[in-house]
Amino acid sequence: MIALGIDIGGSGIKGALVDTEKGEMVSERIRIPTPQPATPEAVIGVMGEIVAAFKYKGPIGVGIPGIVIHGTVLSAANIDDGWLDFPGQEAMVAATGCPVTLLNDADVAAVAEMHFGAGRSRPGVTMMFTLGTGIGSAMFVDGRLVPNLELGHLYLPGMAIDAEDYTSDRMRKAEELSWKKWGRRLNRYFHHVEFLFSPDLIIIGGGVSKKYEKFLPYIETRAAVVPALLRNEAGIIGAAAIATP
Ligand code: BGC
Repeated sequence: MIALGIDIGGSGIKGALVDTEKGEMVSERIRIPTPQPATPEAVIGVMGEIVAAFKYKGPIGVGIPGIVIHGTVLSAANIDDGWLDFPGQEAMVAATGCPVTLLNDADVAAVAEMHFGAGRSRPGVTMMFTLGTGIGSAMFVDGRLVPNLELGHLYLPGMAIDAEDYTSDRMRKAEELSWKKWGRRLNRYFHHVEFLFSPDLIIIGGGVSKKYEKFLPYIETRAAVVPALLRNEAGIIGAAAIATP
């Protein structure tokens, strides 16, 4: 079964055709810079370009950095405010003429890791975090997704800012933190998460997960912490996977 997976990110919108049984991309990956401002109209326009480039007709899955309930986007931390309360899924169906499934980007990436990557056949509580512009979070309990966790917006004890404004990869770059300094921030974050949710396994994704050996040694949790296996492809592969039954 082939589906088109689309990953809407802060800097790029990426899409590829995916074999959803194998969890593998079967086409080249198209990446188009995210229009600024990333209004629904502009982003859905780019999505249309990707669909047209593949001359594609069929199920499409899309991950977006916001809370998504029944196809409507309910938060917009790192995307344009125009997405707030916007019926994104319906608008994407209208623009492409294809059936579309729209979910939160971290949930989508975690679906890919649970099916084909580091979380494969893991029982118990598995959590995944994507470290990028924000911090995406997802939780699976015995293989079932608990959707729309927003743990990038937790406050760490004694701090009155969103954890992602202290711990994301964006902050590592902006403050030019050493791996050690950033690793210690991550350690603080994951300790708090562990205290609240007691996961069995924590999977770390996002572009920076390629360099996991630089920061994983600083994270000391009871739960095992492992890098995502699908790396940057998880967003696209998971998106395609949610589009097919
Ligand atoms: C958003 C989440 C998203 C995460 C990663 C956060 O700022 O609130 O919905 O999953 O960034 O993109």
